[in-house]
Formats: sequence, C-alpha cells, structure tokens
Amino acid sequence: MTLIHETDYGTPARVSETLVTLEIDGRAITVPEGTSVMRAAMDAGITVPKLCATDSLEPFGSCRLCAVEIEGRRGTPASCTTPVAPGMKVHTQTDKLAKLRRGVMELYISDHPLDCLTCAANGDCELQDMAGAVGLRNVRYGFDGENHRAAAKDESNPYFTFDASKCIVCSRCVRACQETQGTFALTIDSRGFASTVSAGAKESFMDSECVSCGACVQACPTATLTEKSIIEHGQPEHSVITTCAYCGVGCSFKAELQGTTVVRMTPLKNGGANEGHSCVKGRFAWGYATHKDRIMKPMVREKITDPWREVSWEEAIAYAAERLKAVQARYGRGSIGGITSSRCTNEEVYVVQKMIRAAFGTNNIDTCARVCHSPTGYGLSQTFGTSAGTQDFKSVDKSDVILVIGANPTDGHPVFGSRMKKRLRAGAKLIVIDPRRIDLVRSPHVQAEYHLQLQPGTNVAVVNAIAHTIVTEGLVNRAFVEERCDPKEFAKWEAFIAEHRNSPEYLESRTGVPADRVRAAARLYATGGNAAIYYGLGVTEHSQGSSTVMAIANLAMATGNIGREGVGVNPLRGQNNVQGSCDMGSFPHELPGYRHVSDDIVRQEFEAAWGVTLDPEPGLRIPNMFDSAHDGSFRGLFVQGEDIVQSDPNTTHVTSALESLDIVIVQDLFLNETAAFAHVFFPGTSFLEKDGTFTNAERRINRVRKAMPSKVGKDEHWVACALATAMGYPMHYETTSEIMDEIARLTPTFRGVSFEKLDRVGSVQWPCTGFEDDDTGMAIMHGESFARGLGRFVVTEYVPTDERTTRMYPLVLTTGRILAHYNVGAQTRRTANVAWHPEDVLEINAVDAEIRGVKDGDMVSLASRMGATTLRAVISDRMPAGVVYTTFHHPVTGANVITTENSDWATNCPEYKVTAVQVTRSNQPSDWQVDYAKNDVERKRIAAANVIAAE
Ligand code: SF4
Ligand code: SF4
Ligand code: SF4
Ligand code: FES
Repeated sequence: MTLIHETDYGTPARVSETLVTLEIDGRAITVPEGTSVMRAAMDAGITVPKLCATDSLEPFGSCRLCAVEIEGRRGTPASCTTPVAPGMKVHTQTDKLAKLRRGVMELYISDHPLDCLTCAANGDCELQDMAGAVGLRNVRYGFDGENHRAAAKDESNPYFTFDASKCIVCSRCVRACQETQGTFALTIDSRGFASTVSAGAKESFMDSECVSCGACVQACPTATLTEKSIIEHGQPEHSVITTCAYCGVGCSFKAELQGTTVVRMTPLKNGGANEGHSCVKGRFAWGYATHKDRIMKPMVREKITDPWREVSWEEAIAYAAERLKAVQARYGRGSIGGITSSRCTNEEVYVVQKMIRAAFGTNNIDTCARVCHSPTGYGLSQTFGTSAGTQDFKSVDKSDVILVIGANPTDGHPVFGSRMKKRLRAGAKLIVIDPRRIDLVRSPHVQAEYHLQLQPGTNVAVVNAIAHTIVTEGLVNRAFVEERCDPKEFAKWEAFIAEHRNSPEYLESRTGVPADRVRAAARLYATGGNAAIYYGLGVTEHSQGSSTVMAIANLAMATGNIGREGVGVNPLRGQNNVQGSCDMGSFPHELPGYRHVSDDIVRQEFEAAWGVTLDPEPGLRIPNMFDSAHDGSFRGLFVQGEDIVQSDPNTTHVTSALESLDIVIVQDLFLNETAAFAHVFFPGTSFLEKDGTFTNAERRINRVRKAMPSKVGKDEHWVACALATAMGYPMHYETTSEIMDEIARLTPTFRGVSFEKLDRVGSVQWPCTGFEDDDTGMAIMHGESFARGLGRFVVTEYVPTDERTTRMYPLVLTTGRILAHYNVGAQTRRTANVAWHPEDVLEINAVDAEIRGVKDGDMVSLASRMGATTLRAVISDRMPAGVVYTTFHHPVTGANVITTENSDWATNCPEYKVTAVQVTRSNQPSDWQVDYAKNDVERKRIAAANVIAAE
C-alpha cells in the first residue's frame, strides 16, 4: 500500500476550444487558451519550482520562485501568472533562473525556524522541497537579523494549529478561505516585513468567522497550518480513497493512515462531488470511529429492564432469530419488520431489505428517508418519472439564477454551499425562500436579490403564487411545454394556477410575503437565464411536502428550466446515502429501482433471483409500524443504524410503541436512545470499516473502502445474512462486490455498475443503462425527454396545515441543523465538534423575547400540544416575529418531544417544520427531561458495565 499522491499542477485547468501551441525547454506543447505557462510545463512533465501557487487557487504571483525566461520578453516573468501564447519559447532552467531562485529561497529560509527534524511537516513540506529543488546550500544573510521566529502559536482550533513562526506569507490560506470556502475569515494584516496572516480582526481562529473547513490547512505549503492529528502521530504511510459518511454531498477523501490508524482525512482533488474541498465534519470529525463509547460485542437481554449480556455473534443471531420466529408463529408473518439506514452502504441496505422481504416474508420495510426525503421520491417521480435530483453539483457553475427553498446549504451541505457561493460571487442572482434568514441571504460578497420570508407551512402557496405570476404575465416557455410536456395535464394546471386564489395578492395575508416581492422573484426566475432550484427538508417535512416538490417541478417545466446544465430541480439530500437507501428498495411498496411490489413481472424477476415467493401487498411505513405496535398487531422490529427515538416525531408515541414490542433488534455503533428499548444489540461498523458504495444527492455512486478492519469482527451485511439464514432463508455473499453485482442485475438504473468499474473510472452517476465501458453516467437528467416520456404538470392545491397557532400556542417552531453536527449527533457529539455547538438552543426574535421577558441566554420552556422541553434561548435577528427555531442534535433537548404527528399527505413524512408552541421563562427541566435523565443514568450504567465486561 502506498500514499496516494495527487499532482499539483500549480494553477487551475482552463477550458477553451482554442488551443495554443508553445515551446517549453525545447518541447512543443499544446494546451487550452488561458492556461498558465506553469501548468503547460507541468502538463508536459516539466516541474517549475513554486511556493505561492497551487492548482486549487487562482495564481497570485507573490513568491517569484517560478520565474522563467521567455524569448523576446524582458525580465523573468512568473510562470504561474503568465498565460501561454502561440509560438512562445520558454526556458525553465537557466543559470540566471537558478541564481534568482536560490536568492528567493535564501530570504525565506533566513526567517524560518530550522527545526526540520522535529517539525510536523517533515517529509511533507513544500518549503523543504523547494530548498532541495533550487539547490540551496547556504544562507548569506545568516539567521540573526530581524525575524518572526518567536511569533506565537494559535492552538484555539481543536483540529489544527497556526504556528506563525513558520509562515512565509504566501497567502495561499487567505485565498483558499476566499476562493474555495467563501468564508473570508483570513486576511494578510500589515505590509512588507510586518505582514502576518490574521484570522478575523486579529482574533484567534476559534473566535473568528472560521468554520474549520480545513481548506487553508490543505493549501498551506509549510507547517504553519497543520492538523493536530499529524502533530500527534506524524506523517501517514499509506492512504485509501473513500467517501465521507456524513451528508448527501458525498465528498471523496483520502483516508491517510499509519497501519490501521487514521491520521488525517484529506479531500480528494479528483473527487467528483467535492473536487478537493471539505467541511469540518468530513475533514476532521472522524474520531467517533474509535470512541470509547462504541459497543464492540453483540449483546442480548430478556427484558429491556434487564442488564445487557455480552454473547457470541452466533448466540446473538440465534437468539434474535428465535424471538422473531416466535412472534411470527403467534401473531403472523406481518407482525415483524425492519428499518434500513441511510448511513449504511447500498450493499448493506440492499441485504437488509432482502432479508426482510425474503427471510421475514413481509414488505414491512421502511427507511429513515421516510422522515426526510420521501416526498422527493413521490413528487419527482409523479412529475418527471424519476425519484432523483436532475443535475450534478457542477451544474450550478452555469446557473444565472439560483432559487433556494427550505434548505440551508452552507450548514447542511457545506461543500456544495461553497460551490454555490462561488457562483453567486461570480454574478448569479439568488432567491431564498425561507422563514429564517439563513447565511446565504447575506454573507461576504453574497447578497440575495430576494428573501421571501414566508410563514412556515406556506411553501405551496408561495410556489403557486410564483407560478401564477409566470402564467398570468405570459412568462411560460410555450415551446418547451409544447414539445416536452403532457398538453392535457398542462392545460389543467394552467387553468388552475391562473385562478385568483393562487395570486400573490390573494395569498399575501397567509404567506406573509408581500405580493410585489413574489412577483419580482417570479420574473427573475422565469427570465433571468438558466434558473436552478435547490431545496431541502424545509420543503419535504411538511403536511404538503409532496405538493411542494411537485409545485417546484411545475415551475421548472413551465419555464423550460430542465434538461441542461445550470437549471433543474435539486433535492439536497440529508444523509450520505439517502438516495442510495431509497434506490435499494427500502420503501414498503417498492423493490429496488422503485418498482412496485404489486407488479407481477417485477416481482417474478426478484422471486426467480431470490428463490422465494414475495408478498404482492405493500407493507407498513414507519408511522404505521408504531400505530400497529400500539394496537398490538406489530410485535418485532429490526433497526439498522437509525435512532428512531431521537429522530422521529412525537417521541413519547415512539417510545411507548417500542415498549410494547416483544423483540427490538438494534444495529448501531453506540447504545443510542433506541437501544434503550432493544433486546438484541448488534454492534455496527463505521464508514472507515466498510466496503461498498454510497450514492449522493447527484446520483453519484462512490466507493467506500475499508481503511481499517471491522472493529467488531464482522461486516454489517454478514449480520443480515446470518440472521436471514437463521430465520430459514440461506443468504451468503463471499465478497461485497457480489452484492453490487446482484444489485446491478436486478436494478435497471444500476445496470453496468460494478466495483471493478467504479475502481477504474472513480464514480458513476446513475442511470447507467447501456453505457460504454468507461462512461461515468448521466450528469444531467431529462435532456431530450423526461424519464416518464412527457413531463406531467400536477395541480398543487394549497391546503393549510392542521397545525394552527392559538392564544395558548402562539408561536411556530421550525427545526433545522447546523454545520458542526450531523442529524441526531450520535457521531459528531463524540468529536471535538461539540466545541462549536455544545447544546441545542432556541433562536427567538427580539420582539417575541421581550414580550415574554426572555433575555439572551435565559433558559426557557418550549411547549407544544405534544410535550415540553427546556433549553437556552438566543435572541436572533435571523428569526421573524412569531417563528422560533431549534436544532435536534442533542438528545437531552428532546426537540421531537415537541413535534406533532402531522405528516405529508402522500408519504407520511413528518411535519417537523411546523409546530405551534409557547415559550416561557423557566429554570426547570421538563418532565420529559427528568425522565430522560433517569433513563440516561441507567443507560450509562449498563454501557459502563458492558464496557468493563468487554475489557
Ligand atoms: S478552516 Fe476554512 S474557514 Fe477556517 S480559515 Fe481556513 S479556509 Fe477559512
Ligand atoms: S499560513 Fe501557510 S498558506 Fe498561509 S500565508 Fe502562511 S505559509 Fe502561506
Ligand atoms: S459532511 Fe458533507 S460536505 Fe462535509 S465533507 Fe462530508 S460529504 Fe462533504
Ligand atoms: S509560484 Fe509563481 S509567483 Fe509564487
């Protein structure tokens, strides 16, 4: 195994149809117009010394180390900032250049600590490399002059240090923060010799605007910005390319290791989704994989009040199978079921759904996507014919107008958020539809043209009002609609949407958005050039989630914004493998590839392949499982890597359902909240121990590779196979790639995908049908026709939610997530990310706070019709009056104790985003929190006992 090395070409690649031929060191080279001389040389295998240049950043030309001589030109221009020209003759190695470069290096080294042997960057330092490359042998100026060698270190960031004594002021970090990340946290302070890198207004990194994305650390050519893990462990000796297991962006990383110890995660420059960028979670928050709280051995117990008993895998599997079979014998085949996890690989999810359908003999299979993007699946398949986003991430580079609705990309999908901000800085116009003033509305060099700050629950009304404006002001792209869409459905929709009740003026009092703003935003979307829509859970997690998805699709079709780069409808998926877990047949009505279980031909295909008879009736969705548990007809549940107690709405309803079950099996890394109700615990594996694939929000199938062996001794798919076998349905795969081969055989959109192909081409975007061997899939969908043939407009009537504010509950609570944490926080709370977000807080507008006598930082009671919790209030001008906001990353907050059971009419996706609440000052934990604390003590006691037993 070797350390994977990615070549640094010095300056970014240029794209041009015009090619330029020049001569470098006597060799003829042809490159696209606009390419730098440095990059042209690198393309030809000629290395030019450099320090301030790197190919992820625009050239800057400050270090002068890359000087070259060009025939017919005076002086020694910097090759990084000099573009190629036809017929140019360049010399990169001459005596004059050698002398000049040595002189430059002498100056740098005279002001640099010469502690190379003990420096963390030893062996990975560009300054050291350049000293060698230019043949530096002495420093004429000595080391006693004025210098920066005593400059102080900033160790405030939990993941990296800033050692100013080693800084060569090349500005790569400053430019990375601006160009790549778009945060603008760093500047070069002062001038000349006094120049220093400064975070914020001479603050520490932790106190500055820095979001710890790591781009500056990545860009730094010296040990000035260094990962603390590298300082602790030293340089890696080999690396493995894998995929981040946090959000739906699906960033590719090099897991850099010493043996089986990860010492650094470095974003992969060739990563299809991230192109070398990362966020704080993927880059730094991987320590949970080796956290002491991980459960390493299978455990069983008779009753949930009993202590856990560690057992062998064989005993745990046999125990689980026996109890499941006993339940089925008594209550029928449909009395058990399972839930798959969007955190797991495609292969793990596929095997679990197969176990449930083939071994349990029931379609009672659902996925955590039920509570996030199930309306996307429904809505996009109704309108376009495919349950997936239409674009790749790169497409946003071609957008002229970007409409973001119910999503917060800079927190939820940070690497894509940075890409979007880059496009906005380059001139694209932005429309944000969100009750909360998210960062995108106003951040450095980004300002939304329109922020439609709607009342939670009125998405359909606002999108309909936009569509009304487009239809009634003659802005429909008739040519597109006539050629590409079903004319009857369009006519129906057009007549409906043109009605006065869909006008911005009529709806203004409900949505809270001034009609003229809606009209102006609609005109911009329809006429501003390539217009793309990005949306998230602020669209789907509503009682009309599916309606909003379809209303968005209607907008894109009506304006012809579909089927090419820069446009489209793009769901920003929450978890790393939401797309994949849905693709793999995790819904109770659909086999892999979104094919209905009632379709005889489809079912027969699976029956032939799996050798069983499958149930033609759809099974239970997650909320139906809970309801059936309450009525006694559902008695056993297998939960793969999901903490339903913390993440599903109306916690007390969920916990009482779980308490009533005869057998609950949890497979997870930690004893999560759901495990408190389990009888069998199968220890799971982290992404660093997995072999398989994740599918990201742009349908990109990325490889996940084992960086370390399974810490629990088994792969997760082995567990499902063993349990299925013990249930009487033999299931076995020699390798994980065999599972993908089976998926590819049985799933039309995955045809042509194999580990061999992924290893060869990097990643593939489904659909993959009919590909040539090296094709990497379909970046943009619905190019010439929709997947369903003609695009279908759907009438999306605005129906207000049943959740109403009253005098008792006068405010609306909406929820979301923040950058540092991921979902229920099970992983990120076990990393240093807690430094940024140690607790969930309630954001409240100053007016609402003042009415209630609440001051910034006060503890408050947050109560709904469902329950109450107590948390800290933060007065925030992000919130409009009447709306409060919190996150759900800490179980003690119990955010879902508050949320209701209202759900999307089509998919049952919970209405997390609208709950009527009251906020009052309080210094008492709620009753629920008192109970939680008791349970938590007990859980910790059991976990501690288990850990001791394991040792
Ligand atoms: S870590 Fe990221 S946000 Fe922070 S200073 Fe570096 S580039 Fe900027
Ligand atoms: S911290 Fe590193 S990247 Fe930034 S100016 Fe100093 S040497 Fe260059
Ligand atoms: S959390 Fe998302 S954006 Fe961040 S590194 Fe992982 S995949 Fe990329
Ligand atoms: S690398 Fe070209 S001037 Fe620094």
